[in-house]
Amino acid sequence: MALIEIAGVAKTFGERCVLSGVSLAVEEGEFVSIAGASASGKTTLMKIAPGLMPAGKGSVSVDGKPVTEFSREAAIVFQNYSLLPWLSALENVRLAVEPAFPGKGAAWHTAHADRYLRMVGLGTAMSKRPGQLSGGMRQRVAIARAFAVEPKVMFLDEPFGALDALTRSTLQQELARMCSEASRPVTTLMITNNIDEAILLSDRIVALGRGPAASLSPAVPVGLPKPRAANLLLHDKAAVLIRARLAEFLTATARPPAAVRGTSVPAAREIPVEARS
Ligand SMILES: Nc1ncnc2c1ncn2[C@@H]1O[C@H](COP(=O)(O)OP(=O)(O)OP(=O)(O)O)[C@@H](O)[C@H]1O
Ligand SMILES: [Mg+2]
Repeated sequence: MALIEIAGVAKTFGERCVLSGVSLAVEEGEFVSIAGASASGKTTLMKIAPGLMPAGKGSVSVDGKPVTEFSREAAIVFQNYSLLPWLSALENVRLAVEPAFPGKGAAWHTAHADRYLRMVGLGTAMSKRPGQLSGGMRQRVAIARAFAVEPKVMFLDEPFGALDALTRSTLQQELARMCSEASRPVTTLMITNNIDEAILLSDRIVALGRGPAASLSPAVPVGLPKPRAANLLLHDKAAVLIRARLAEFLTATARPPAAVRGTSVPAAREIPVEARS
């Protein structure tokens, strides 16, 4: 059985059906991305999957257990950092570490938080509060906090969405490094509106069509060796085909103009038939 099982999830707000028949299985240690346009229901799905919001229909289970509330075995990184503004970077991470490791003492909690902040390059900024940090630094704190609880599953909702292109690319590489260096594989489900980011980090990618009643495309495997370099992926033949297959689904379900960012893709008719699944 897959570690994360999303089965037939639907969600309606009032009259508006946002998600319909969303099913996805993520295997242990896998990094799966969901790419979708703005307002297609990505964050809604990212609230339902970890148990922050109930599904209207369908179910989610993690490790065979139905998800009914947010679990200590999960960590989430949101686009807007979600740090407590009155606490320092160290205290923000420590606050998550304490309940994750209740058997350890205060000194251990501090040292553990310290270690993860150093891993994301914030060794000299630990005493600063979020308001004294740049956007990229704040998102580093959020990533350190997520990894520091050593979660079984990680949910990332456009974790780099608020960052400039250069910072975004640096943090993407750091996230890839932390995933590969983690002591055990962290099963990760990431939401993104950027197909290139998904190709850089994922084992498989699914596209969420534009709503109402958005559903997922078949998964597209990314069989490229990791770690991957963003600049090499731009012209990599396999990456170009993956981009095209996802764009084909997204444009087919989009009202014009298609709203998912990414580099230009060949039209679907240009994809050799044998390259399609
Ligand atoms: N709590 C809510 N109550 C009513 N409508 C909601 C609620 N949450 C989301 N919606 C609606 O559901 C739709 C999908 O919202 P959601 O935030 O999931 O989109 P998204 O794909 O994450 O968009 P973005 O890319 O802009 O973050 C939107 O039309 C939004 O207005
Ligand atoms: Mg969102």
